[in-house]
Amino acid sequence: MRRKFVAGNWKMNGNLAALAELDAIAKAIDARVDVAVAVPATLIHPAAERAGFPIGAEDVHAADSGAHTGCVSAPMIKEAGAAFSIVGHSERRQGQGESDADVKAKAEACRRHGLDAILCVGETLEQREAGEAEQVVTAQVRASLPDGADGGWLAIAYEPIWAIGTGKVATVADVEAMHAAIRSALVAALGTEQGGAIRLLYGGSVTADNAAGLLHAAEVDGALVGGASLTAAKFAPIIAAA
Ligand code: G3H
Repeated sequence: MRRKFVAGNWKMNGNLAALAELDAIAKAIDARVDVAVAVPATLIHPAAERAGFPIGAEDVHAADSGAHTGCVSAPMIKEAGAAFSIVGHSERRQGQGESDADVKAKAEACRRHGLDAILCVGETLEQREAGEAEQVVTAQVRASLPDGADGGWLAIAYEPIWAIGTGKVATVADVEAMHAAIRSALVAALGTEQGGAIRLLYGGSVTADNAAGLLHAAEVDGALVGGASLTAAKFAPIIAAA
């Protein structure tokens, strides 16, 4: 039985004052649901000191140290208090040109240092309209899947790029079909037990209004929430819906 998992992603938002939201989010946590929030690197340490629930990074470098100006490594985020990192978010795949191989290496860096990872995949609108969505996304899953993948530390977030921050939500039927395809790809790669244990999150314009339908759809184990995770007023109802 996979526990529900609601994760927030603050993206490039927030400051020290905004960490007060974490206090209110902590009060909304239900023992039946896993809740975590990924914050900008500058906020990991104060957020982790304060939150009382898992705080993570939004990205991590694949290497442990070295000449990588501007980057942070898995040991660094771990020392700062992170419990996990998002890897392969589409805003990095597209904005920073990250490949499936890069994403796989980043997830493996997380595992090496005892961090959990949320690995993101998703198709563009053009790919969906061309009928290629499942093929694109399952290919991303296969090529990004880290060595040692298992549900103890890895979750996969399906985030259709056209649904991120746009207010356009995938239909429950589309999400169920995609999650079933991802599940099949995982079972084919890892076997029934391990492939069946990895949690599949949906992300893309999740709000209090649509959360219940999405979170209780077949093969949906939780949500990766962007804009609506920035305040407890918007995030708490999503946790409650899980
Ligand atoms: O990581 C979160 C996703 O990109 C979804 O963002 O909820 O603002 O659409 P959003």
